[in-house]
Amino acid sequence: MSNKPASQPQGSFVMDVQKIREQARKHMSDGSVTQSYSADKETVLKLLNDALATEIVCTLRYKRHHFMAKGINSEAVATEFAEHAAEEQEHADRFAERIVQLGGAPDFAPDSLKTRSHSEYKEGGNLTDMIRENLIAERIAIDTYREIIRYLGDNDITTRRIFEDVLAVEEEHADDMADLLEGRE
Ligand SMILES: [Fe+2]
Ligand SMILES: [Fe+2]
Repeated sequence: MSNKPASQPQGSFVMDVQKIREQARKHMSDGSVTQSYSADKETVLKLLNDALATEIVCTLRYKRHHFMAKGINSEAVATEFAEHAAEEQEHADRFAERIVQLGGAPDFAPDSLKTRSHSEYKEGGNLTDMIRENLIAERIAIDTYREIIRYLGDNDITTRRIFEDVLAVEEEHADDMADLLEGRE
């Protein structure tokens, strides 16, 4: 149903501001989730919580690798791991914030982190192993986030944008790990 005038040229932008104003007054307890939110909110919350678990596991893995690399005097690699850990933590925060915005609750329960996370917590026996495990984890995150972005489409643009921002950083991370790995194998 469209109430745009017949003379309206196709493709032009018409917005019923009055209707939007009325809708905005209804269901105010839903906060930022308005009538035009067309995604399946429960599914989006699940995807966000799984991504949150992934980011927490990635933070923990990079933290472990940072301290282990430092212990074997690999300062440059240790610094890189620490930077990544901090960025994974930022990603976790962004996902948690979005979950709350959508009326959900971020799941920080440690016992189920492993099963909910897309990527794994692999300790790695030496520096090369650590770098390789991180590269694998980044590649998993990249593929799952790309899928999620495709799924979200235009139904939840804000969540999609968060995933897009995070994806871009994961691609940088994978690139960093690939560079470190080069010449080691
Ligand atoms: Fe991340
Ligand atoms: Fe990453």
